[in-house]
Amino acid sequence: MKNVLAIVLCALLLIVSVGAMADGQKVGVSMPTKDLQRWNQDGENMQKLLEAAGYTVDLQYASNDVQTQLSQIENMISEGADVLVIAAIEGSSLGEALTMAKDESIPVIAYDRLLMESDAVSYYATFDNYMVGTVQGTYIKEQLDLENAAGPFNLEITAGDPGDNNAGYFYQGAIDVLKPYIDAGKLVVKSGQVAFDDVATPTWATETAQTRAENILSSFYADGTNVDVWLCSNDSTALGVENALAANYTGTYPIITGQDCDIANTKNMIAGKQSMSVFKDTRTLAAQVVKMVGQILSGETVDVNDTETYNNNVIVVPSFLCEPVFADANNYKALLIDSGYYTEDQLK
Ligand code: BGC
Repeated sequence: MKNVLAIVLCALLLIVSVGAMADGQKVGVSMPTKDLQRWNQDGENMQKLLEAAGYTVDLQYASNDVQTQLSQIENMISEGADVLVIAAIEGSSLGEALTMAKDESIPVIAYDRLLMESDAVSYYATFDNYMVGTVQGTYIKEQLDLENAAGPFNLEITAGDPGDNNAGYFYQGAIDVLKPYIDAGKLVVKSGQVAFDDVATPTWATETAQTRAENILSSFYADGTNVDVWLCSNDSTALGVENALAANYTGTYPIITGQDCDIANTKNMIAGKQSMSVFKDTRTLAAQVVKMVGQILSGETVDVNDTETYNNNVIVVPSFLCEPVFADANNYKALLIDSGYYTEDQLK
């Protein structure tokens, strides 16, 4: 009986304190698109956690259209948002809306992707983007034993969206590991496409990555030459490369990297069609951002762990970096199923 009373009391206290903390406060959450799996999860997680903490949530997806995102954010502002959480389609294109937020003293949190060219960004929460690339590059280095093996190995590269500030970090993290071996001729890029601008994939679209991979395969590997490894910055682009390989390639299947542990790609890892991914638990990021929102609105010190890296060309934005985790067919069960991220059925 005592226990029951204690539980009821605790629950009441929680409700009263959450109510006191968040009552009537409104959080606008602007997400880039529903087309890629992760943003659906990010949006759902944010909404669930914010509502549980007592906030009113205005969650919008912008169909990867910058104008739509701009007007959605402007609406959030005119409808009285107390805080904005924004995952930008194009980091540099939201200036007008950000200035409007600043004029109304609305704090802005850049979610996962940095908002560029603006002093109206209060905080940034993301995963360590450079580390994602380092994990991919190091995996390739170890799998091919680049230190000891004679090679040469054929490498192709598919990177992300030039409008997304993260894409450069992913690319650079991996290239910094691989460049010495490219320079030494142990890794050979037959297409000659190495520079970020040559390997980028606008909007991270699977179809665009697939078309480019098909062109590379038919131009440089149609004679039976093996492509030994394909560095892909994330899962949506890796999927494009995997589709292209399935249709246009007869050589030995390459090592392929990815990022996000999307369902389609996790299935491909289990089936041996993708070698690894980088797991970024969107629940962790959402929880961190909800914490930030609470700290901002109650005037507490906001938790950050990086005050140097993320310069948006106007200010260095105080950031909280979550840690990305290596994933492959050997550890996906513990990472993704045991942790409740996916059910076993979702991966069948
Ligand atoms: C995210 C990645 C994601 C990519 C495409 C990036 O900004 O950090 O996790 O794969 O966008 O959605």
